[in-house]
Amino acid sequence: MRDSLPTTGRIRKLWSGESDLYRDHHLRLDFDSRRSRFGCAVSEAFIDRYVAIANGIDSVIHGFFVDGTLRGGGELRPLGPALAEQAEAAFSIEKPWQSHGVGTALLGRTLLAARNRGFKLLHMACLADNRRMQQLALKFDAELSFDFGSVIGEVEAAHPTPLSVMRELITDSTGFATALLEVQSRLLRPA
Ligand SMILES: CC(C)(COP(=O)(O)OP(=O)(O)OC[C@H]1O[C@@H](n2cnc3c(N)ncnc32)[C@H](O)[C@@H]1OP(=O)(O)O)[C@@H](O)C(=O)NCCC(=O)NCCS
Repeated sequence: MRDSLPTTGRIRKLWSGESDLYRDHHLRLDFDSRRSRFGCAVSEAFIDRYVAIANGIDSVIHGFFVDGTLRGGGELRPLGPALAEQAEAAFSIEKPWQSHGVGTALLGRTLLAARNRGFKLLHMACLADNRRMQQLALKFDAELSFDFGSVIGEVEAAHPTPLSVMRELITDSTGFATALLEVQSRLLRPA
């Protein structure tokens, strides 16, 4: 599965204290992308409330960073104890970085995280006219069976293996190293 990215971009998990980055990223989405992401036009106040919930303790959010700015996100959010083994997945990439493989890389990371947490059903709210998201999901048909009618994806083999856990650990540690370098370079930058 392709995991190549625009050369200047890096993917890593977001930390709990980074909800402002996630909020600002959603506010930068153009009208159409914001509508595709949330299924309808939404206000700034809605995004504020949404990000506060999305950044909950059980969520896993992978961020796509370019020069320290968050330009894309892939979100995995459990639906709660009443719907154990089910989660919601959502993706958002700012327009200039769309169609460059970022969604592919983020969905790959999100599926790996879902598998390692034992989720069997992934809900993705996807508008019927969102061809790109549908094409993207189809690329993962070996790992995800996706029913666009009911917008529910079924994660195949939804049980972690030592290898799948190791893959997530390895991508986390490279992401962490990159994050440290980013912070360091920000500190060293002349004021
Ligand atoms: C939908 C979205 C997540 C896809 O991410 P992306 O980075 O643009 O997609 P990718 O570049 O990884 O392309 C994935 C596949 O989509 C298809 N695709 C890419 N660009 C396309 C375009 N302009 N039109 C139609 N299909 C396209 C291709 O099949 C591509 O796979 P390939 O490059 O191997 O051929 C992203 O465009 C986005 O954030 N859109 C706005 C918000 C949204 O729709 N979110 C989804 C709802 S949760």
